[in-house]
Amino acid sequence: MPRILIGSDHGGFRLKNEIIEHIKAQGFEVEDFGTHTPESCDYPVYAKKVAKEVALSGDKGILVCGTGIGMSIAANKVQGIRAALCSDTFSARMTRMHNDSNILCLGERVIGTGLALDIVDVWLKTEFQGGRHQKRIDMI
Ligand code: RB5
Repeated sequence: MPRILIGSDHGGFRLKNEIIEHIKAQGFEVEDFGTHTPESCDYPVYAKKVAKEVALSGDKGILVCGTGIGMSIAANKVQGIRAALCSDTFSARMTRMHNDSNILCLGERVIGTGLALDIVDVWLKTEFQGGRHQKRIDMI
């Protein structure tokens, strides 16, 4: 089973723990880059840790903050990262098929846990289509 690298700030701490439990139950190996407490902290720290390791290892990553926006902005600053903020399953599917996104960003304060876990499932199981989409990614 692939290894999933995961991180959050305090705004995504609860959902991060739910995601870890959910995907571990499916057999994924999970590496948790923190935060490890609900105390207030700075999302760029965790975005950078996860994004650098995703770029280095080729594993996929998941980042959660209050909106998912800060995490996506910060993660996309790292070379080789295509971080996609998703609040629906259609976007989660399409961003894997067309953008080969390697980090999924979620907002704990935006969507419910049930939808978030569905988005995670769809994103993890959908394959990149390649072809004309690879050419476009190469242009980024
Ligand atoms: C923290 O209050 C909040 O700003 C953060 O979790 C995130 O939503 C930033 O984009």
